[in-house]
Amino acid sequence: MSTLAYIHANYPRFLTELKTFLSIPSISTRPEHQPDMVRAAGWLREQLLSAGFPRADIMPTDGHPVVYAEWLAAGPEAPTVLVYGHYDVQPADPLDLWRTPPFKPTVIGDDLYARGASDDKGQAFLYVKVAEAFHATAGTPPVNLKCLFEGEEEIGSPHLDPFIRAHTDLLAADVAVISDSHILGKDMPALVYALRGLAYVEVAVTGPDHDLHSGIYGGAVNNPLNVLCRMIAQLQDEDGHILIPGFYDKVRSLDDAERAELARVPFSHDDWLAEAGVRAAWGESDYTVVERTTARPTLDVNGIWGGYIERGAKTVLPSQAFAKLSMRLVADQDPAEITRLITAYFQQIAPPSVTVEVRDLHGGNGAIVRRDSPAMLAAREAYRRAFGVAPVLMREGGSIPVVATFQKELGIDTVLMGFGLPDDRLHSPNEKFHLPNFAKGLETLVHFMTLLGESGARG
Ligand code: BES
Ligand code: ZN
Repeated sequence: MSTLAYIHANYPRFLTELKTFLSIPSISTRPEHQPDMVRAAGWLREQLLSAGFPRADIMPTDGHPVVYAEWLAAGPEAPTVLVYGHYDVQPADPLDLWRTPPFKPTVIGDDLYARGASDDKGQAFLYVKVAEAFHATAGTPPVNLKCLFEGEEEIGSPHLDPFIRAHTDLLAADVAVISDSHILGKDMPALVYALRGLAYVEVAVTGPDHDLHSGIYGGAVNNPLNVLCRMIAQLQDEDGHILIPGFYDKVRSLDDAERAELARVPFSHDDWLAEAGVRAAWGESDYTVVERTTARPTLDVNGIWGGYIERGAKTVLPSQAFAKLSMRLVADQDPAEITRLITAYFQQIAPPSVTVEVRDLHGGNGAIVRRDSPAMLAAREAYRRAFGVAPVLMREGGSIPVVATFQKELGIDTVLMGFGLPDDRLHSPNEKFHLPNFAKGLETLVHFMTLLGESGARG
C-alpha cells in the first residue's frame, strides 16, 4: 500500500485519536490543569512510540515538560528535519459562548470543534500520523525526524530557550518545520516566510496609598485610572503610529519588490471586514491592511482595570490602576529593547503625583526565513501536489518565537507549513479545524518529506 493510501484507509481512526488528544484540557496557564499537562504529554509520547519512533521521551523543564522524539533511520546522508509543535492550549473562556463544549471535540459538517483543534494539537498531530504512515508502508520515514513538542507555547515559552540552548547537539538538524499557522483559504495554500515578534508588559499606576472618597478628594488628587488613560493615549496617534521614542529605529522597512509581492496576496476587503466583525479598517494609512497586519509593528491594550467595576455606582478615587499592553514587533526589533523603551517613556510622561511600574510579562523575536532554500522549494511543491495549486508566499502577523531561537541557537531556518484557516477562531470560543485541511495536511507532509528525502538537500 502507498503511504497516501494508508492515510486514506486509516483516516477515521486518526480522527478518533485526535479527538482523544483534544479532550485533554492541557491549559498551560492554569495551575489546576498541571495533571492534564502531564497527561497530554504522556499521551503524545505513547502515540509517537506506537507510530514507530524508536525514541520518545518526556523531558522535564522548570515548567511543563517537553516531549522529544527522534527517528534517525534515513541515514547520515539524508536531511534531518526538526519538527516543532505545542500540546498546550489557551483557556477556553468565555465558556458560555461555546456552541459545543471546548473539551468535548465535536464534528459539525466538515469542521472539528474543540479548544486546540487548529492551535496546535490538530496540526502537531499530523506529524505523528505521517510518521506512522511511513512506518506502516515504507518501514521508515524518508528523512531523519526529530520532534520537539512543548507545553508552554501559549504562555510565551518561558523555559524553551534554555532547553534548546542546553540541547543543541540533540536538536541539531538541517531544517525545522512547524505547522502552527494558517493558509489563506480552503483551496488557497500559503507558505509563511515571516512572523512578528512580541513584547508584553503590565503597567501599574499608584496614586494615593488607599482608595479615597471622590467628593472629598476629587479635583486635588490625580486619579491613577485617569492618569493611566492619559498615558495610554500618548502611546499612539489616531493613525496607529506609535509615539514611543526609538520604537521604529530597528524596523526593517519593506522594499518595493516585497510590497508588490504582498499586493498579490489574494485579499478581499469585504471578506476581511466580515471575518473580523468590524465596520471599517483602521491603522497606518500608508500601508495596506495586509502590510499593517503582518509587516508593521503594533501596540494594543489587552486589558485595563482598577477602581469599582461591580454593579451600580460607587464614588471612589482608586489608589491603583492597571493595564496589560502588547506590541507586535517586526524584524529587527528586539523585545527586550522595546520593553526598555516603553518603560522609559512611561516614566518620562508620568506626572509626579503617581508612581508607575512597568513589568515585563514575556516577549519573543520575530523572524524572516529564506524563501529559496531546498526545503522551501520542497514545501511549495508538496502543497501544489496536495492542493492542486501552488502556495502563495506571505507574512504572518502572529508570533512563533521559537523560529528566531532556531536561527540563533541551531543556525537553521524553519519552514512554516500551516494548515489552519483564517476563520479557525484561535484563542476564541468555537475554535475549529477544517477536516479537509487535516487530510490535505497529512498528504502535503508526506509529499514534503518524500521530496526533501529525494533531494538529499541539507537545509
Ligand atoms: N499558533 C499561534 C501563532 C499564530 C497564529 C501564527 C496565527 C500564525 C497565525 C500561536 O499558538 C500563538 O498564539 N502564539 C502567541 C505567541 C505569544 C504567546 C508569544 C501569539 O502569537 O500571541
Ligand atoms: Zn499555536
